[in-house]
Amino acid sequence: MDSEPRTGHYVIADSPDAYETERLGLLEARSDPLTRTHLAQVGIAEGWCCLEVGAGRGSVARWMAERVGPSGHVVAADLNPRFLWEHAGPNLEVREHNVIEQDFETESYDLVHCRALVMHLSQPEEVLRRFAAALKPGGWLVVEEGDFGSFAAVDPSHPGAGDFDRVTRSMWDFLSQHDLMDGYFGRKLAGLFERTGLEAVGNEGFVHADRGGSPLARFWQLSIDVPGSELLTKAGVVTRPQIDAVLGLLGDPAFEFVGTTLYAAWGRKPLAT
Ligand SMILES: C[S@@+](CC[C@H](N)C(=O)[O-])C[C@H]1O[C@@H](n2cnc3c(N)ncnc32)[C@H](O)[C@@H]1O
Repeated sequence: MDSEPRTGHYVIADSPDAYETERLGLLEARSDPLTRTHLAQVGIAEGWCCLEVGAGRGSVARWMAERVGPSGHVVAADLNPRFLWEHAGPNLEVREHNVIEQDFETESYDLVHCRALVMHLSQPEEVLRRFAAALKPGGWLVVEEGDFGSFAAVDPSHPGAGDFDRVTRSMWDFLSQHDLMDGYFGRKLAGLFERTGLEAVGNEGFVHADRGGSPLARFWQLSIDVPGSELLTKAGVVTRPQIDAVLGLLGDPAFEFVGTTLYAAWGRKPLAT
């Protein structure tokens, strides 16, 4: 990246299209099945009005639009909707929207969903309140965010395991301490939902072990390389050779690692009394 990252914002907001398309495609392939399960569990149905925040490449918004059908409506909102415009349709509205600064229409949505965004933002509680304000009474909020607490080599006796764990841990800690991303955010979601006044709050986390060279490992290579390298080497947190060693392990099918935990939390806005 050419410029300094803005704290409290999505660190790689202006990443090149080809890079972000590949990265988000891998994220969708890994996470969409889980996301669909969570949205089905809260009852997404024909005629619902849904808001997908930080919609990325739009796979979730498109799936929602199919589920709600022609009598429903989906808004796909993103700070940078570069991959979304082409998917706009009769029941899928694309909107440029900054959740740090802008409110949504109040009490307008049956379902608000967001994945892999709030952990990048400072003042997450305010952002979640903004999501809750957009819900109709009885509407559902579902948020899915990562948590790096699980990220580690599977086999501690692997010759690269110690460095892999130390280097990646110092990266996540640095980003968290400097308000660039809360690497331990997923676990906090349910508590924040309760403080936001939602009811029927629940949460769960999913984590996978995988091998170097897999699609998940490629996702991590991409996520660590561009945003991580310059920022962290400049700050003296890790060296370029240390980053290269981590990237090498993520490309090696003989190396196994545990990825981040994807936490999902859900909660319902109380009916007006
Ligand atoms: C890690 S991507 C996740 C994309 C998608 N939710 C997914 O899981 O496939 C984060 C997305 O949030 C968007 N974003 C970043 N900051 C935002 C903001 N302040 N308001 C709205 N969207 C934002 C980015 O442009 C990007 O599309």
